[in-house]
Amino acid sequence: MFFLSSYMNPPSASTTSADVDWLFDFILTLSGIFFAIIVVLGTWFVLKYRRRPGHAPQPSPSHSNKLEILWSVIPGVLVGLIFWFGFQIWLNTREVPPRAYEIQVTAQKWNWLFTYPDGTVDKDLHVPVGRPVRLVMTSEDVIHSFFVPDFRLKMDLVPGRYSETWFEVKEPGRHVVYCAEYCGTKHSDMLAQVVAHDQAGFDAWLDDASNFIDREPPVVAGGRIFQLQGCAQCHSLDGSGNAGPSLVGAWGKERLLADGSRVVMDENYARESILDPQAKIRAGFQPVMPTYKGRLEDREITVLLQYLKSLKD
Ligand code: CUA
Repeated sequence: MFFLSSYMNPPSASTTSADVDWLFDFILTLSGIFFAIIVVLGTWFVLKYRRRPGHAPQPSPSHSNKLEILWSVIPGVLVGLIFWFGFQIWLNTREVPPRAYEIQVTAQKWNWLFTYPDGTVDKDLHVPVGRPVRLVMTSEDVIHSFFVPDFRLKMDLVPGRYSETWFEVKEPGRHVVYCAEYCGTKHSDMLAQVVAHDQAGFDAWLDDASNFIDREPPVVAGGRIFQLQGCAQCHSLDGSGNAGPSLVGAWGKERLLADGSRVVMDENYARESILDPQAKIRAGFQPVMPTYKGRLEDREITVLLQYLKSLKD
């Protein structure tokens, strides 16, 4: 084995990723060996049996049972082995171990939302190490694909149904989540992180994440929700244009809508735009914002509005 995967692949961080790397090495080594045999023998035969003066062409044998069996059985066995190893690994990555910690994953253009058993929502995937984590996943709009290279893990999220996958992280650390299915303008920005904590760190994170609204000043808590819900993906905080209008300095001012009418950015307009984004579209923008109805509680919207109000230019 060349163990090329350790040079070519990202760090192997889950309990199943080493198996995938092993199979990758196995197939690559096999391919390398056969490549060498074919190229070396081919070159040698071309030179050895080239047409030369004084050498009459010889009739070649039309059939050889020995050869036919040899070049059918050996590749057959090797392909069977590749299938067998691959099938075993595939079964392992499909079968969720019992007592897995369950997290709901929602994909939408263009962010990830992870919902924990107590209802806490985060844009990053926080997990405890040394415990299988089951992901129950769906999409709000188009097909996305949850892809963590460090775990050698990829699973599609399809609107209108649930898919599942699982992994177990070995060490505390951070790993990037990509979207691996083209889903529109900001597909390549559809990133998140897996943050693996030890059990105590995870408990502390969950406690903070589920209670910060009660503990922090409204403006601070609202800012956290703005980040956690992925609002910043589309609404810039530096006044620049993006998929959504900038919210800096917008509060209390008149805004022009696509139908030519005007509306003042106040609590009611902001609340309506969060829960029913298609109701009033700002001039110059596409109606692409997903609804946050059922996703944000009233107390969350209240602190979020406090935060938006604080965004002065
Ligand atoms: Cu979501 Cu690409």
